[in-house]
Amino acid sequence: SKGTYANYMLKEIDEQPVVMRKISSHYFDGKDIKIDEKMLEDVANADRLYIVAAGTSYHAGLVGKDIFENLTDVPVDVELASEFGYHMPKLSKKPFFIFLSQSGETADSRQVLVKVNELGHHSLTMTNVPNSTLSREATYTMELLAGPEIAVASTKAYTAQIAVESVLAKAVGEYKGVKLAQEFDLQGQLALAANAIQTIVEEKDRFKKIAHDYLANSRDAFYIGRGIDYALSLEASLKLKEISYIHAEGFAAGELKHGTISLIEKDVPVFAYVNDGVGAAHTRGNIQEVEARGGHVLVISSKKYAEDGDQVVLPAVDEMISPIVSVVPAQLIAYYAALERGNDVDKPRNLAKSVTVE
Ligand code: F6R
Repeated sequence: SKGTYANYMLKEIDEQPVVMRKISSHYFDGKDIKIDEKMLEDVANADRLYIVAAGTSYHAGLVGKDIFENLTDVPVDVELASEFGYHMPKLSKKPFFIFLSQSGETADSRQVLVKVNELGHHSLTMTNVPNSTLSREATYTMELLAGPEIAVASTKAYTAQIAVESVLAKAVGEYKGVKLAQEFDLQGQLALAANAIQTIVEEKDRFKKIAHDYLANSRDAFYIGRGIDYALSLEASLKLKEISYIHAEGFAAGELKHGTISLIEKDVPVFAYVNDGVGAAHTRGNIQEVEARGGHVLVISSKKYAEDGDQVVLPAVDEMISPIVSVVPAQLIAYYAALERGNDVDKPRNLAKSVTVE
């Protein structure tokens, strides 16, 4: 039930710290990760991982690519289910498939799984619904443990997917003796992330004001970032457009100048994420380009960057899993922008919770 909440979306945003702690206590036994041994071997034997998903789950896959490549040393492809099913590329010799699906019922993802099964490849579904079609038909299942997600806009399933991907990546990396995996304190990071989200959701009025100041009169909005922040900006913009109906784009910060910057004019809102260490200095340059054209920039980062401009300073966590934290301001901004426009936040127009047609 919604309890005292006006709608499910805000409740589900608020539940994320609890979900992070639940994933940590479920998948760890002391310092050891408990997951299916056979699955572990299967994944560790693959020469390439293929992550297949749609929508928000696809965005969680883009974040997972970095985590898997860092911690397991195996190359990863992330594929849109709706494309991959009909245009399957030449696969590697020993592929392993990971399906990400909150509902476990997405038809686009399922038709890829049917083909994967026909080809005799092994697969894992990470899902919130353990008895779902994608869970039953895949070789293995890992539960997201996010609890029922009722609002159409996915929030806690995204952060749960990144956390569960991290669990698998660390376990596989440890199994293969990858140093980075052995050293990565995932339990500590998930605890930090839970606390960080808690801090953010306790500042709701601030995000309500940001949504008003930046978006009340806007038709378009941009989220920009590099690396891990680029993956995040795609999810941030999807959240905003699907419930507020404001046209939003997630953009690789360095790519703006190759065309899209022509859309930046006075007061166009630009939310700039700067968590990616390697790209930070260049993203700062891109922010200045946007500001020079009158764009209304909000910097979102765990480091203090904006000397005089506006910034949301996030509590710091390891960069690899930083989207677990940095997505939350975007969820809240989308929520309040939609609310201010009088939209049905839980049931946006034209959308269903699980998309069972291809
Ligand atoms: C966005 C959203 C959709 C779903 C997508 C995949 O907020 O909810 O983009 O993420 O339809 O759904 P699942 O994860 O159930 O396969």
